[in-house]
Amino acid sequence: MSQARLVVRGDARAFTLAVGQTILQAAMAQGLQLDHACGGVCACSTCHVKVTRGGDCLSAASEDELDQLDEARDVGLDSRLGCQARLLRLPADGAVEISIPTWNVNAVREGAH
Ligand code: FES
Repeated sequence: MSQARLVVRGDARAFTLAVGQTILQAAMAQGLQLDHACGGVCACSTCHVKVTRGGDCLSAASEDELDQLDEARDVGLDSRLGCQARLLRLPADGAVEISIPTWNVNAVREGAH
């Protein structure tokens, strides 16, 4: 199967992202905690991630995605919705790197209590 390494900043585990798969699908399949309040239909922004490497190999953001990202906190130029960003081809160095904004991580931790 064609898959890239999915590197998650601050997480030492080894994840993969297959061609054709979204970041959220990869996260859910591999036990990586990524919020997805709307179930992955581009109707919230809780799956917000920053793609710090390999972003050019992901599907382009749609207008809907950009609208949702407007609602997210701590948005940057490399921000994507994990449920919408799909790997189209393997990056030259074989890796896609993301970071999950800290406020998301905190929200997850708080939710766990
Ligand atoms: S899970 Fe709601 S927009 Fe991605």
